[in-house]
Amino acid sequence: MVENFAALASRIAQLKKEKDAVILAHYYTTPEVQAVADFLGDSLALSVKAKDIEAKTILFAGVHFMAETAKVLSPDKRVLIPNPEAGCSLAQSCDAEALAAFKAQYPNHIVVSYVNTTVGVKALTDICCTSSNALQVVESIDRNQPIIFAPDRNLGGYIKKLTGRDNMVLWDGACHVHEEFTVEGILELKRLHPQAKVVVHPECKAAVVDTADYVGSTAGILDYCGKSEAEEFIVVTEAGILAEMRSKYPNKRFIAAPTADASCSCNECKYMKMVTLESIIACLENDSPEIVMDEETRRSAERSILNMISIK
Ligand code: 13P
Ligand code: SF4
Repeated sequence: MVENFAALASRIAQLKKEKDAVILAHYYTTPEVQAVADFLGDSLALSVKAKDIEAKTILFAGVHFMAETAKVLSPDKRVLIPNPEAGCSLAQSCDAEALAAFKAQYPNHIVVSYVNTTVGVKALTDICCTSSNALQVVESIDRNQPIIFAPDRNLGGYIKKLTGRDNMVLWDGACHVHEEFTVEGILELKRLHPQAKVVVHPECKAAVVDTADYVGSTAGILDYCGKSEAEEFIVVTEAGILAEMRSKYPNKRFIAAPTADASCSCNECKYMKMVTLESIIACLENDSPEIVMDEETRRSAERSILNMISIK
């Protein structure tokens, strides 16, 4: 935890009261940001929560597409993002113009997009999904209906394999963090910790996913680790999740999987780490930066997110 955590957290608490604000945070943010959040979750839980906030202001401690999703679902709220530069390599891999051109090549396909996309891409999407519900979303579509799945080729390939659907065309995008994990690194850890269960996020490459005892979203992984009788886990996703794992299950051991280059912090999302306590304070003090968008795009994007939320 940062040195002056108590003073910064107390200032944030005061500002939240003054501004009638709640803080939503993703599990990949830093432990101190997670500690000041009112609600902590994976992409799906955060989208659902954003729809039902009563406070006037939502401060989104996460990356830009997440704050945009909150604004789409809660247009009457002020939605703040502490650092608008916090992007996402998946969202960047797929812009609306390129997706529109891709769609034109496959006019009979339904578009399923991961929520890790811009509002413009969501407006071109029929149903959004997250890593928690991608399987249910694809299974809700008639088997004979061809699908464009964007933008994560790894998640798309995993769902294609699980469902055996050959009529899914995949966009060629990937997450720069999850692509870094290697089979060799995981097998080496498994040799040192033979009892450990390997838990993997489906944004990883197929060969890495094949090493898993459990594959799931960040919330799915957390749940699995809680329910499993195992005491040790090799965690193959962004390392921010370890803070919540250790706090929820203090008697279990969690080992972060290494990436190809062990000297870097490549198992951390640099974008998620751009949110700091100081940037949260400045954002609440100034009511800025704020997410704004035109109403027509918002409405089109809203339809694709609500279509996802309605699938149980
Ligand atoms: P989930 O929150 O669905 O696990 O996705 C992980 C992620 O990479 C978010 O950007
Ligand atoms: Fe995007 Fe990957 Fe960071 Fe998630 S972890 S926000 S998918 S770059």
